[in-house]
Amino acid sequence: MKIAIGSDHVGYELKPAMIEYLQDLGCSVKDFGTRSNARVDYPDYSKKVSEAVLSGEFERGILICGTGVGISIAANKIKGIRAVVCSEPYSAKLSKEHNNTNILALGSRVVGKELAKMIVNEWLGAEFEGGRHSKRIEKIAKLEE
Ligand code: RB5
Repeated sequence: MKIAIGSDHVGYELKPAMIEYLQDLGCSVKDFGTRSNARVDYPDYSKKVSEAVLSGEFERGILICGTGVGISIAANKIKGIRAVVCSEPYSAKLSKEHNNTNILALGSRVVGKELAKMIVNEWLGAEFEGGRHSKRIEKIAKLEE
């Protein structure tokens, strides 16, 4: 699976471990920055990763900031993006199965590395169930018009 990943400077604390984990799982990962703890603005990374996912080159995106909140709010402003911020695996799994999320956001100040790995693993292992959920996704898309 091809994954686009990005973070702000706070999310950078968690990102290298997530990249390593994703690679261990056999994913191909492209890091869209940032690559240091120098202060940046998280919407810039929401944009880069969202556009990478929407281009079709990457199947899913992962965004990390301090809480996962700001970076997911910004991503959700971009048409076609359904980003979820998760701090436990159950919502991550269901967000794919029911809501067909294409971006997972994590908070480096909220979850530790091991919990973050569990969340990522559940999300990557889940597939959209379609069926009754498709109509609801279509209604979400209509809200973007
Ligand atoms: C940066 O200080 C912090 O606001 C950011 O990483 C994130 O937590 C925003 O939601």
